[in-house]
Amino acid sequence: MTKSSAPSRLPGFRDFPPAELALRSHIIEGWRRVARRYGFEEYDAPPLEPLELYTQKSGDEIVAQLYDFQDKGGRPVALRPEMTPSLARILCERSRSLPKPIRWFSVPQLFRYERQQRGRLREHIQWNVDLVGESGVEAEAEVLSVALDGLRSFGLDHTEIRARVSDRVLLAEVLSAAGVPADRMVAAFSVIDKVERDSGARTRERLEVEASLEAEGAERILSLLGEPGLDAVERTFGGSLAVADRLRELRRFLEIMSELGFEDFVEFDLRIVRGLAYYTGIVFEVFDRRGEFRAICGGGRYDQLLDRFGGEPLPAIGFGMGDVVLGELLRDRGLLPEHRRSVDLYIVAVRDELLPLARRMARRAREGGRSVLYPLRPLSVKKQFAQAAAEGARQVLILGPDEVVRGVAKLRSMEDGVETEVSIEAWEATGGGGGG
Ligand code: HAM
Repeated sequence: MTKSSAPSRLPGFRDFPPAELALRSHIIEGWRRVARRYGFEEYDAPPLEPLELYTQKSGDEIVAQLYDFQDKGGRPVALRPEMTPSLARILCERSRSLPKPIRWFSVPQLFRYERQQRGRLREHIQWNVDLVGESGVEAEAEVLSVALDGLRSFGLDHTEIRARVSDRVLLAEVLSAAGVPADRMVAAFSVIDKVERDSGARTRERLEVEASLEAEGAERILSLLGEPGLDAVERTFGGSLAVADRLRELRRFLEIMSELGFEDFVEFDLRIVRGLAYYTGIVFEVFDRRGEFRAICGGGRYDQLLDRFGGEPLPAIGFGMGDVVLGELLRDRGLLPEHRRSVDLYIVAVRDELLPLARRMARRAREGGRSVLYPLRPLSVKKQFAQAAAEGARQVLILGPDEVVRGVAKLRSMEDGVETEVSIEAWEATGGGGGG
């Protein structure tokens, strides 16, 4: 057979050798711990779904990034680019029998054919936390707290990260008060969504052309977006009753965030719109304060998705947080634990004829739940110790001929070098538990 080089990895995909996988596990375990602290239960769904699940509800941006194809049965399918439509489908089938509110979380691997850039790959792991069946801002506050607590659990406090929160209801009221006709609202949203990327002149032009605003209305919106907090909205558009109502709700939301201990993390910012089509209320994104990375997390309220899927009409709110940006940020801030290979025990056989005893003792210790290595072929004692050190063994059990004759072995701590004698008989009887 002729040798050929292995096909290379697809662009935007990652291998996870143990050190990388350990970091990924560190992140996922942190997410799981925090979700459970807030009473959320884990669920999952298939990674391959009917194409239709996304073409109907996700929004053009994600649909353009789908990995879609026909399966061998001729069905149009897609690798999941996000979890929310799968969640909506599951709940459509089951929500009626579930106590409300439903608190579910998930850690799926997702696939998007994205243009490659820092923080964006074609595959990522995304923590999804969703609360279904509550319509009040208390639910938004609860869900955003989970996201922020998740980040704080990795050592990212309010000096490092901030949540930029907006509200599509308020934005629609403000745009409507400025003169955007109802049938141009979606177009106006997409102009606002790009306001931080486009120049002022470009935004003004787009507001006039795409959102049908008069020059004066466009100017009011532009100046508001220059100072996008709640006070400015109140000052400029507070005369509209609908705006005033919504402002009261949003102030209550901020108050609850403060009761939950996250006031220093949260800023209201009308420029946050989010690309996904299904959001209907509060939306948010979390960023590093220095502005060096892309969004770490994004979410919002989507009260119509279940209804539109033909299920029980339930209000819902949730977020997704990816492992890519978060991993980069944690690495940059020195917040990732160092990966060290470690096993509980390495058994050194001073003579080759002691290897069968080493294997028996390893077997008993493994039955007792410990991770144990021993040389797989005859090795010098020096090499065995080198191997024990390389494998990160915390203890070494030394089987020397003189000790074995007396029915004992030496157990040495690799940390401080302290040695104790253990009885081989007791070890074999207790599964090594008696040996330390
Ligand atoms: P999303 O904003 O599309 O929201 O994604 C959420 C987060 O996933 C982003 O902030 C980012 O950290 C990460 N992410 C997204 N795309 C990529 C990529 N190509 N590479 C690396 N990381 C990425 C959603 O997906 C919504 N379904 C979230 C949600 C759940 N809304 C309600 N519930």
